[in-house]
Amino acid sequence: MTLPDGVERRRIEGESVLSTRGEPISDEPTADGWRRWDPHRSKLGAMLELGMETGLRGGETALYLGAAAGTTASHVADFAGPTYAVEFAPRPARELCTVAASRPNLFVLLKDARDPASYGHVVEPVDVVVQDVATRGQARVALENRVFLREEGRLLAVIKARSEDVTADPEQVFEEALAELRDGYEIIETARLEPYHDDHLAVIAQRR
Ligand SMILES: C[S@@+](CC[C@H](N)C(=O)[O-])C[C@H]1O[C@@H](n2cnc3c(N)ncnc32)[C@H](O)[C@@H]1O
Repeated sequence: MTLPDGVERRRIEGESVLSTRGEPISDEPTADGWRRWDPHRSKLGAMLELGMETGLRGGETALYLGAAAGTTASHVADFAGPTYAVEFAPRPARELCTVAASRPNLFVLLKDARDPASYGHVVEPVDVVVQDVATRGQARVALENRVFLREEGRLLAVIKARSEDVTADPEQVFEEALAELRDGYEIIETARLEPYHDDHLAVIAQRR
């Protein structure tokens, strides 16, 4: 598995861990300007830790859906190019703005990812859509945001089973989400994110 340029395995607090170079947020451990990227707190971090082939090389233009307070979006902005971060809840979005203050390539959009037309005038065509929205209709969100992907652009999404249906068998939820995603994407790789995140399916897909 190839890590993108700008993501390295470094020794931080005596452990070899994933890290990016950037202003630390909260109390994360750092060494020599590198900040630990904790796979327990980040689904994209877990995808890299589990050896999934994300296709990321570093320097991509990225659209990040469900940025919350920026735990993962900040790492993406550390190694990517322009990074558009969509979050619809005002409180985490405020923290995200603080995280963006030291990252001139991180653009915060207080928007609903189910309504891509509301930010279509701001977001340029992107190489990658990273999605972690934890809401009902996760496949639909990915399909609707496909318009931003360049040809051959990739979707790196995580499907949280309980956000779709708390009572359903996660495997069934994942099958249904994948079937829906196939309307607009070719699925390249999938993996469950245990032991880092329970009942989450990571999906790497290419725009059709
Ligand atoms: C699991 S958290 C994201 C964590 C974040 N990706 C990280 O690793 O740092 C899911 C986030 O998606 C946001 N969200 C859910 N539905 C959304 C929507 N329709 N549009 C934008 N954000 C949404 C929630 O407010 C929440 O902050």
